[in-house]
Amino acid sequence: MKVIAFNGSPRKEGNTYQAIQIVFDELKKEGIETELIQLGGKQIHGCLACYKCFENKDNKCSIKTDELNDYIDKMLAADGIIIGSPVYFSNVSSEVKALIDRAGLVSRANNDLFKRKVGAAVVAMRRAGGCPTFAAINFFFLIGQMIVPGSTYWNLGVGRQPGDIQKDEEGIETFRNLGKNMAWLLKKISL
Ligand SMILES: Cc1cc2nc3c(=O)[nH]c(=O)nc-3n(C[C@H](O)[C@H](O)[C@H](O)COP(=O)(O)O)c2cc1C
Repeated sequence: MKVIAFNGSPRKEGNTYQAIQIVFDELKKEGIETELIQLGGKQIHGCLACYKCFENKDNKCSIKTDELNDYIDKMLAADGIIIGSPVYFSNVSSEVKALIDRAGLVSRANNDLFKRKVGAAVVAMRRAGGCPTFAAINFFFLIGQMIVPGSTYWNLGVGRQPGDIQKDEEGIETFRNLGKNMAWLLKKISL
């Protein structure tokens, strides 16, 4: 069983990354393989609304100049998908938005490619805007028939500078419980 996670922050080892690692630790304890994909800071185009994915129906985006199609393949091969984002002006980072829009449209063009995979949002913020960001990621999961586990709070961690999130005790507990629930769910649905 495998879970992949996208770090949507350009800060490679910042708070989003550190929150993802807390979830990963719980998954690893249950024997689940993990892989991190560094998305933030990559050149990734927005959706062109060309709708070629609906014509071609080949699980691919027509834009071939970036790594989006590799990300779709990685998501297809995984049992669980974590999308981690910093809060930028009360929403996801641009790279995460591009992933959601393009992978989301390709998925819809191909009968919900990620149907019944487990999805989890991981969000890092300084002060506010965590809930719209959390919602934006969950909208992607839920419109595509994915299954979303909960935690003991919405999956938000508070911190400004890289590492600040380690001081957010409730955030850490939330990410730990998310990892435990994700592992539990993955094991149940793989029976
Ligand atoms: C362009 C930009 C916009 C931001 N907007 C918000 C915001 O709306 N709300 C907030 O609480 N923090 C905001 N922040 C702060 C980050 O969310 C915060 O520093 C977070 O911990 C970054 O995660 P990272 O370390 O993974 O990059 C913003 C940061 C940047 C660079």
